[in-house]
Formats: sequence, structure tokens, C-alpha cells
Amino acid sequence: MNFELSSEQAQARQTARRFAREKLSAAGVETDRTGRFPRQAVQELGKLGMLGVFVPERYGGAGLDHVSYALVVEELAVECAATAVIVSAHSSLASWPILSAGSEAQRAAFLPAMAAGEKLGCFALSEPQAGSDAGAQKTRAVRDGDSYVINGTKNFITNAPEAGVAVVFALTDPHQGQRGISAFIVETERPGWQIVRIEEKMGIHGAHSAQLSFQDLRVPRDRLLGEEGQGFKLALRTLDGGRIGIAAQAVGIGRAALEQSLKYAVQRTAFGKPIASYQAIRWKLADMAVELDAARLLTLKAAALKDAGRPCIREAASAKLFAAEAAMSAAIEAVQVHGGNGYTREFKVERYFRDAKITEIYEGTSEIQRLVIARRLLAEH
Ligand code: CAA
Repeated sequence: MNFELSSEQAQARQTARRFAREKLSAAGVETDRTGRFPRQAVQELGKLGMLGVFVPERYGGAGLDHVSYALVVEELAVECAATAVIVSAHSSLASWPILSAGSEAQRAAFLPAMAAGEKLGCFALSEPQAGSDAGAQKTRAVRDGDSYVINGTKNFITNAPEAGVAVVFALTDPHQGQRGISAFIVETERPGWQIVRIEEKMGIHGAHSAQLSFQDLRVPRDRLLGEEGQGFKLALRTLDGGRIGIAAQAVGIGRAALEQSLKYAVQRTAFGKPIASYQAIRWKLADMAVELDAARLLTLKAAALKDAGRPCIREAASAKLFAAEAAMSAAIEAVQVHGGNGYTREFKVERYFRDAKITEIYEGTSEIQRLVIARRLLAEH
């Protein structure tokens, strides 16, 4: 077992850390305040190769691995959780399924522009009645000559308002249930793609989540991604990788909470001493640090398994579950360490509190992660 990063992995982390500190520290506050999409940061990330970290160089990516990707997402999330999830949804949920299930022509047509940040990606799976029960899809894709015509509604689709490319799931054979779900690559400028509304959310304000309506959205037959009827399995395989990205985002939010708490605890005095000298505060700092270290190890282990081409269903779910809960707990404690100040917008910790919460919900709630883990345990028993 080797806990050392390769020089490429360390370099990716360093580049992301520098970018986050220089370009996202103030912008992260502004993005949260205004709710504006961080367009400039996303463009610059494209130029730095961070929108295609694990995309091979022949498709315009950085040609690195999922360990590097997790390290990059963590660094971005320390300064701006919204930017981190924009990168994660684009990379794990849109680029990866095209890389994994796409034909050579599809990869060559879509991945270079996505890796360069010219086209942002999104993943349209959830529907009003299909959230945790993702297989309960109602969106239909009907063959019509050399096209498919898609009709339906999608909910909470991260990046949708800014996306140029979407991976969309729809039933091609409703009689087959989940085995009748297929995946499509959809260019969002096609007629019939409609943003119904952008949700007003508790946190990750700059990352926009939209409800979509497809009305006779016609896509050529060659936009089918993988085989008909294989869409649900592709969605679940995609979510294994997505959960590694969200675990890394959670580790980043939790790390920010710890770093701000350390800074505050040595500066703030009470009863004549810095509050860092009190055991009540020290125990909080220690617990945060241990849980975040464990969360990072779980995340990097799942990423390393994915890089090795080994199954990582349970490991990705474990990383996402543990990291999300560690981030939430770190954010709650960070507000507590800051006392009344922590409850104000003057300090960043109230934002971490709001941003951390979503990591327990999206890409599978903590309850769904426990279900996935238990199913794997029982299957492997
Ligand atoms: N990889 C490949 N195949 C898988 C798989 C995986 N990880 N997990 C399951 N499968 C296979 C199963 O073996 C099964 O195959 P067979 O039909 O051949 O038997 C098939 O896929 C269906 O699996 P299940 O029977 O387990 O399906 P289910 O309906 O009982 O439950 C679930 C699946 C795990 C609960 C799933 O619905 C789920 O993960 N729900 C959560 C949805 C989710 O995470 N949504 C996130 C939306 S995206 C998002 O949030 C992005 C964002 O905003 C940033």
C-alpha cells in the first residue's frame, strides 16, 4: 500500500489549489451572494485542463486519473462548492458516460469541446416522480425514421441552463420498465429543449439546477448512447463515479470549515484566553480533522479502484455517505466554534453549513447510499 501521490497527481492538486486560492476565494463569496454562474472561473478551468481531468489527451483532456480528479474537486470545493459541483457534474456525469459508452465518432464529436470548457455538460436523469427511485422514468423516446422524439420532464438538473451537451435518459420501451431505459447525447440548442425554471436553493448558489421540459425534442439516431435498453445501468455506473466527485466536494467543504475554525479559535479570546485553549473547542477540531482524513481516504480509495478498472459500487457509496456526513458535521461544529459570528454572513462558515447539506442529498441521498452498501454487502456475503 502506497499513500504517496504520483508527481502528476501532486501537480494536479497543486494547480487546483493555487487556482482556488487566487481565483475562487473572493469569487466564491460573490457567487454565493449573487447566485450568478461563475462563468469566468469555469472558462479558466477549461483552459487549465480541469474540465477534462480524466479525459484522455487524444480527446483533448488532461489524460490524468480519477485520483487526480478527486484531488482537484476537493481543492475547488474548499473555496467554492458551487464551482466544484459544476466541474463534478460536467466531468463525472456528462463526459464520463460519453467516454465510457460512446462510439468513437461520439467521443471525437463531443469530448474535445467539453474538455476545453467550450461546452458544459449535464446529466438528465431525475424526474418529478423519479428521484431516489431513479428507475421510475416517464420520459419517452420514440423512434421516428432516423430520429428519436423525446417528450418528458426532468428535475433538479445541475448545469442545465449553461449546458451545451446533455446526457438524457428516456424510455424507449415502456413495457420493459428499467430495462427499457436508453441514454442519449442531446445538444441543448435543439428545438424542444426547454428550461422551465431554475430552483432557488439553500446553498451552492452559483450551480444552477433546473427543471426541464422536452417537447418533441428530436435527436438523430446516432445520438443514442450505448445500446437501447442499457441506459439505466449506464446511469448507475455513471453515478458510481459521480459519487466520488461529490465525496471529494464534501471533503473540500469540510476542510474549509476546519481551516476557518482553526483560524478563529486561535484569534478569538474568551475569559482571557484564546478559545483554542479550551478542551470543548479542541475536541471539536480533533473530531473534524479525523473524520475528514477518513473521508478523504475513502474517497481516494474509491477513485483508485475506478482507475484500476475494478468494481467500486460499495466504495463510492461509502465515500459519498461518510464524506457528506463528515462535511455536515464539520460545518455544524464550525458555526458553533464561531458562536454568534458563525451565524452571520460576515463569516464563511454559515455558507459551508448551507453548502454541505446538499452533499447528503444529491447523487443519491445518504439513505440510498446505505441501501446500496447493504445490498452489496449481502450480495458479496
Ligand atoms: N453499476 C452497474 N449496474 C448496476 C449498478 C451499478 N452501480 N447498480 C445496480 N446495477 C444493475 C443491477 O444489477 C440491476 O441489473 P439487472 O436488471 O440485470 O438485475 C439493474 O442495474 C437495476 O439495479 P437495481 O435492481 O439495484 O435497481 P433499483 O431500482 O432497485 O435501485 C438505486 C437502484 C440504487 C436505488 C438507484 O435508483 C439509485 O441509485 N437511486 C438514487 C438516484 C440518484 O443517485 N440520483 C442522482 C441524480 S443526479 C444528481 O443528483 C446530480 C446533481 O445534482 C449534481
